[in-house]
Amino acid sequence: MQNSLKVLILSGSIRRPSYTFSVADAIKYSLQEQGCSCLHWNLTKQPLPIADPAYHSRPHDNPNDNAKKLAREADSSDIIILATPIYHNSYSGVLKNALDLLTMSQFQYKAIGLVSHGGNRSTQGVDQLRIVVRGLLGYAITTQVCTMKSDYGSVDNDGIYPISDPTIHERINRFVRELILLAPVYRALRQRIGLLPSEFK
Ligand SMILES: Cc1cc2nc3c(=O)[nH]c(=O)nc-3n(C[C@H](O)[C@H](O)[C@H](O)COP(=O)(O)O)c2cc1C
Repeated sequence: MQNSLKVLILSGSIRRPSYTFSVADAIKYSLQEQGCSCLHWNLTKQPLPIADPAYHSRPHDNPNDNAKKLAREADSSDIIILATPIYHNSYSGVLKNALDLLTMSQFQYKAIGLVSHGGNRSTQGVDQLRIVVRGLLGYAITTQVCTMKSDYGSVDNDGIYPISDPTIHERINRFVRELILLAPVYRALRQRIGLLPSEFK
């Protein structure tokens, strides 16, 4: 079952193996099962430069190829998922740097999903990301996914921690359902007010 929804997943840990990357990967597979086309940006293999404010309002002019590609991918995505490890009661600097390479036009009237990993399934990262997404004019969906170490089994041969806790699987299903329900509504809204990139018109 294919749908036309495109998803960009940004996970803000460069540790490998990474719990954050693992939960984001599980979400990617779940979205793909529902027919979405997904790109999980790997910050270890495709590192991003430190955000230079000179390109704040024109991310496509950034001289760095990865930064330009990130802006293009974000432009054409209906859904953007931000996943983060909890660092010092917040989201990671690596993720913030990636966001600072983008601007409002990549986020406005889009469904944004928030995901985190840290002690006690802390919501500190996603709570703060909600405020950031509001600043970018995106719509962070209500359902969020927050995991802790005991939600996972041992790392597999692909360097992924498989999710072992059934409640996290249920939460991912609800998260994916909500994204797929809302993303077409926001896309229709972007079309109505002339915000869709030309290839979608
Ligand atoms: C700089 C730094 C700060 C951290 N601060 C917190 C914290 O405030 N609360 C917490 O629960 N874990 C904290 N941690 C632990 C990370 O959440 C933990 O290492 C987690 O596994 C990171 O996810 P990852 O496997 O995707 O890298 C911190 C780790 C680092 C490196």
